[in-house]
Amino acid sequence: MAGVTTQVSVPLPAAPAIPYNIVIATGTLRNEAALLPWLSHISKALVVTDDIVSKLYLKDMMRTLRSLGIEAGCVVLPDGEQFKDMHAVTKVIDAAVSEKLDRKSSIIALGGGVIGDIAGFAAAVYHRGIEVIQVPTTLMAMVDSAVGGKTGVNHPVGGKNAIGAFHQPSLVLVDLERVVRRESDAVRALIQRCCAAKAAIVCADVKEGDSGLRAMLNLGHTFAHAIETGLGYGVLLHGEAVAVGLVIAAQLSASLGYVHPDLVCRVERLLRRANLPISLQGSRSWQNCGGGIGGKETDLSVDTFLDLMTRYGTLACVWRRCR
Ligand SMILES: NC(=O)c1ccc[n+]([C@@H]2O[C@H](COP(=O)([O-])OP(=O)(O)OC[C@H]3O[C@@H](n4cnc5c(N)ncnc54)[C@H](O)[C@@H]3O)[C@@H](O)[C@H]2O)c1
Repeated sequence: MAGVTTQVSVPLPAAPAIPYNIVIATGTLRNEAALLPWLSHISKALVVTDDIVSKLYLKDMMRTLRSLGIEAGCVVLPDGEQFKDMHAVTKVIDAAVSEKLDRKSSIIALGGGVIGDIAGFAAAVYHRGIEVIQVPTTLMAMVDSAVGGKTGVNHPVGGKNAIGAFHQPSLVLVDLERVVRRESDAVRALIQRCCAAKAAIVCADVKEGDSGLRAMLNLGHTFAHAIETGLGYGVLLHGEAVAVGLVIAAQLSASLGYVHPDLVCRVERLLRRANLPISLQGSRSWQNCGGGIGGKETDLSVDTFLDLMTRYGTLACVWRRCR
């Protein structure tokens, strides 16, 4: 009957959260015995990696998986942020189809944050979601991107990480041999501490909700994403763009009176000590980068959700009109 509206409610239970472990060890990828307890449930897997990491670690990884009785295939993607896009996701899905991965199979992301984001997103959408195991091989991926379940790729117009999903890994395997030549208690402790810090924030705010807690991890990222998209992906490494973004966030926070200008110098000093850039070189400027960008995350010409520092050691997410 015209004009009658009926409604059926769908009282879904809260999505079950599945806890996972971050295993930090040395030589794990070559050690079947060490991996057995963590991978014994897998029968079929697809390893996703890039053409630099594949030369370093793919052979070891494949040999170990096969010796554990896991039927494993692999797909090697071109290295670089400029290839973090839907074409890469399609390649992973094509490989998953040809390897006949099913809902019980696993995708293993062997590489830095770029591979982790692509493989994680492919796992999130293949057969409506299959398991992903993150095996980070850069320090950044070990302490940050492999933990927390953010996955995604860039869109040529929509910008950085415009297409993505929250898809938590079932396991994160950190093999210290991938980043340090010798076993070091200090590096192990550092990675463990960083992972625990990120895990605590993710557990309190899994999907970057209204509390703004997880969004604080984005400090400097709005500018970084504008820089990466504006300069072209791969011109600066993501970490370099974030370093410049941190300085800009500090400068803006100081110029708005949220923090003392001394804090800008301190941020710059810390970044210099890590050999990271604190500004864009030559005639490049982040404002130019922002002007031409249409993506929600990076559009600085409209009201933008910025993470700024409000007090020494405190962050806040602030809506600013940047025009
Ligand atoms: N999902 C998240 O929560 C999250 C968080 C932070 C960053 N990210 C994303 O991570 C990406 C940056 O990741 P990244 O900094 O690891 O860069 P990357 O993945 O591009 O790796 C950097 C370079 O190091 C090479 N490499 C990787 N492991 C190596 C090893 N052990 N030895 C020698 N070379 C090695 C790679 O082939 C690449 O050339 C960005 O796309 C960023 O958006 C995601």
